[in-house]
Amino acid sequence: MTLAQRRILLGVSGGIAAYKSCELVRRLRELGAEVRVVMTESATRFVGAATFQALSGQPVRVSLWDASAEAAMGHIELARWAERILVAPASADLLARLAHGHADDLLSTLCLASAAPLQVAPAMNRQMWAHPAVQANIQTLQRRGVQVLGPASGEQACGDVGSGRMLEPQALRDAMVASFGDGMLAGLRVLVSAGPTYEDIDPVRFIGNRSSGRMGFALAEAAALAGASVTLIAGPVSLPTPTGVLARVDVRSAAQMHAAVLAAAAEADIYIGTAAVGDYRPAEVATRKLKKKAGADLFLQLAENPDILASLSAQAGHPFLVGFAAETHDVLPYAHEKLQRKGLDMIAANQVGEGIGFEASDNALSVVWNGGSIDLARASKSVLARQLVAILAERYRAARA
Ligand code: PMT
Repeated sequence: MTLAQRRILLGVSGGIAAYKSCELVRRLRELGAEVRVVMTESATRFVGAATFQALSGQPVRVSLWDASAEAAMGHIELARWAERILVAPASADLLARLAHGHADDLLSTLCLASAAPLQVAPAMNRQMWAHPAVQANIQTLQRRGVQVLGPASGEQACGDVGSGRMLEPQALRDAMVASFGDGMLAGLRVLVSAGPTYEDIDPVRFIGNRSSGRMGFALAEAAALAGASVTLIAGPVSLPTPTGVLARVDVRSAAQMHAAVLAAAAEADIYIGTAAVGDYRPAEVATRKLKKKAGADLFLQLAENPDILASLSAQAGHPFLVGFAAETHDVLPYAHEKLQRKGLDMIAANQVGEGIGFEASDNALSVVWNGGSIDLARASKSVLARQLVAILAERYRAARA
């Protein structure tokens, strides 16, 4: 992993997470990047410019009205110098100013004046992050191609718990490396399905399963960090979009997931089916809530859902296909059988059990392909996702060689 001689402009806006950006400067420089820091006035209330100056080894700029720098049009020179602009932390105010094209301080002016790709790492209280105004600004920025990194969930400086924490410096650095396309999946388009499907019985009940989406979301993030352009098709889960994912489509039922995956697969090099797709749905969905009839059993007739992986493998020129298999017993024989029956290039099988597989934060995988297999020992889903992406990159290149 390297950022040797990469020119990165780090924008720091006003938020308590600004202290983490000091560590970020160190992490970027460790990989050989040249870092110049531009702070907003409010940012200087959280961390002094001298700290960033010492860490970056470069003068820090705050004002658009710096007479010595601006005599030679310093902001234009800086805008041209940057290969990437990363704003971390990006406050709600800064995101609003970027979304509306303001140029009322040095940092917002540079973001407008530079052709360099822009990344923002939002950091704010969870209520602010959830506010429709902030979400609308984020969508505007994403539509313009700005890469939104995070935020993460967890405990916040104000004591609240929820989504809005700035990503850790290491994750921001990894995203920066991936943005230069040095990753294992650089230049490839990866489509990932994640989570459960819900098959409606009536307006208030459904048949679902215990998938949380964690494994699929971790894979989407790992693929993005490896340089892929990632589209995520998510069943009903309550997880934020992972770092670096370009597009997310939310669906509810297996039929919707089938349609969304097939629509996106034409533009994909690799499909990873992590979703726990319902094999059956109620043959009829009642339009009114079913009423209990005391003393009588209720029978539901189920109709078979289309198989997404099998539909893809039947298409000519389909993407490289990676399936998942969750089993309570005989994991490997079932994995081999699914690999053949569904026409897959690779399958990752996991045993479901206490603290592992569905819902849990850990998993363990047996990865199988025609002519080989490898066991990945129990670890967190994000660690396993990175290991699986490394195997996938190798298998993909071997298959396309
Ligand atoms: O979401 P988490 O809580 O993190 O849990 C992760 C997981 C356990 C759900 C995941 O690791 C996993 O194993 N997913 C596959 C679940 C499963 O049992 O799938 P399956 O055996 O029903 O299907 C096998 C493969 O066919 C899967 O890749 C599935 O996406 C695909 N499939 C299944 C049915 C269908 N109609 N279409 C499909 O494409």
